[in-house]
Amino acid sequence: MKYEVTVIGSGPGGYVAAIRCAQLGMKTAIIERYSTLGGTCTNVGCIPSKALLDSTEHYHNAKNNFSTHGINLENLSVDFVKMIERKNEVVKTNAAGLNFLMKKNKIDVFTGTGSFVSPNKIAVKKDDGSIAEIETAKVIIATGSKPSSIPGVEIDKKRIITSTEALSLKEIPKEMIVIGGGVIGCELASLYARIGTKVKIVEYFDSLIATMDKDLGKELQRSLSKLRIEFFLSHKVTGAVADENGVVVSAENMSASAKATADQKEKVDFTADYCLVAVGRKPYTDNLGLENIGITLEKGKIPVNENLETSVSGVYAIGDVIRGAMLAHKAEDEGVMIAEIIAGQKPHINYNLIPNVVYTWPEVASVGATEDELKQKKIAYKKGSFPFRASGRARAAMDIDGFLKVLADEANDEILGVHIIGARAADVIGEAVVAMEFRASAEDIARISHAHPTYTEVFKEACFMATANRAIHL
Ligand code: FAD
Ligand code: NAI
Repeated sequence: MKYEVTVIGSGPGGYVAAIRCAQLGMKTAIIERYSTLGGTCTNVGCIPSKALLDSTEHYHNAKNNFSTHGINLENLSVDFVKMIERKNEVVKTNAAGLNFLMKKNKIDVFTGTGSFVSPNKIAVKKDDGSIAEIETAKVIIATGSKPSSIPGVEIDKKRIITSTEALSLKEIPKEMIVIGGGVIGCELASLYARIGTKVKIVEYFDSLIATMDKDLGKELQRSLSKLRIEFFLSHKVTGAVADENGVVVSAENMSASAKATADQKEKVDFTADYCLVAVGRKPYTDNLGLENIGITLEKGKIPVNENLETSVSGVYAIGDVIRGAMLAHKAEDEGVMIAEIIAGQKPHINYNLIPNVVYTWPEVASVGATEDELKQKKIAYKKGSFPFRASGRARAAMDIDGFLKVLADEANDEILGVHIIGARAADVIGEAVVAMEFRASAEDIARISHAHPTYTEVFKEACFMATANRAIHL
């Protein structure tokens, strides 16, 4: 079997790369070790988490908000088994769509673990132990990532679980401790809190989603408190012990108010029936045979140059397994880019403008520089902020939490960063990305007509604030 390109891994990086290679006329193979295509994103990440977030948000609204709209429901309950089944159906449909796309683009799919024999030969080991060999001119590694843990916390997948298990539980936990107040922690905490789980988030930093603009974390915490989630910020988890019925998580309180002495940190124990470990993900390269072709990892990642090429000529890597944000759309963009590079084109990704979204409700979304980053770089900036409660659309929906903040260059008004927490922030951020890609000024956006009433008007009003220190509706 001879191919021009072989892709290892079928997540959003790998399958998109394969499709684009095929579109550009290359004979393409894709290898996936699981029986379904789609990787983390389709099977245990973006798609199932959003499916369950949608279901639980419906329940939450029906329980807490429908009566305000004059809709009265009686005997409301959660059929958790059915909720999980619907999620599984959504995943199945998405994965089936990928099978169709592989066929449509005449991409050969190999099921098994891909491993380098040489830069031009890949062995595919199937579950039954048999091995097929593929000869290939180029290889794209898209093997993604896996959940990581911390010292003292051993994931048993029963009581101490990762996002993968959390998306397929058999029962609604009564109590859940979430280690890590990052993206997964906040999304899954809100998912379970909406259907009655008592959730405690234990986070090392003094804020949720600490890598995003600081104001977002504060507002998100305020909002998630309404779901009765409890927060233990500035707490470093040091261990977790599980038995059949539950788990005890130990942490050190590092906050200024902690009764700690220099050598005796204040210790806190938390108990629950489940503990979700959400402390980040690590690139996955097990059984890939990188040692056979001389690729050495740097900080666990496959090093690549600006053309996504590894130290071995003709071997490329994309997505979660290399540097940069661990996001599906970043992996997809790199999938397109690498196919076009191999085809001799000169594509480009603007890594500064990859949006970041947290699918809590309200949603959180941002693109570009944070205030802290601008301060560090000593770039003088103007700030325009507009609250959702002043938006007619938000008031009509009674979704009034949050704000949109625009940061624009003091010198020339160019938009440098947009940070949103509010209803449909995930969609509103799209306009900010386009505006920034075309290097719009805040005044440009303030003067462009925005349909009324829409959430996008919040962006326009914040731009008014940034450019002229005034908004129309505030
Ligand atoms: P992956 O999707 O991880 O795919 C890699 C594939 O390679 C896997 O299928 C794996 O089985 C296969 N593989 C590995 N080694 C081999 C081998 N040797 N041979 C054959 N196959 C192999 N991102 C977003 O942008 N938006 C979201 O809403 C979002 N939600 C998420 C929610 C959760 C709970 C999680 C865990 C992640 C979420 N992400 C989200 C992150 C997103 O899933 C990843 O960034 C994305 O899947 C990375 O794509 P990838 O192609 O690099 O790798
Ligand atoms: P994360 O990096 O977002 O958050 C991990 C958190 O754990 C950090 O805040 C960190 O301070 C905390 N932590 C680490 N060690 C700790 C300790 N000992 N005690 C207490 N807290 C500790 O990682 P997360 O949430 O696991 O997500 C992994 C990746 O998945 C992210 O990179 C994200 O990009 C991706 N993802 C994206 C989503 C989206 O785009 N909506 C949704 C889910 C995941």
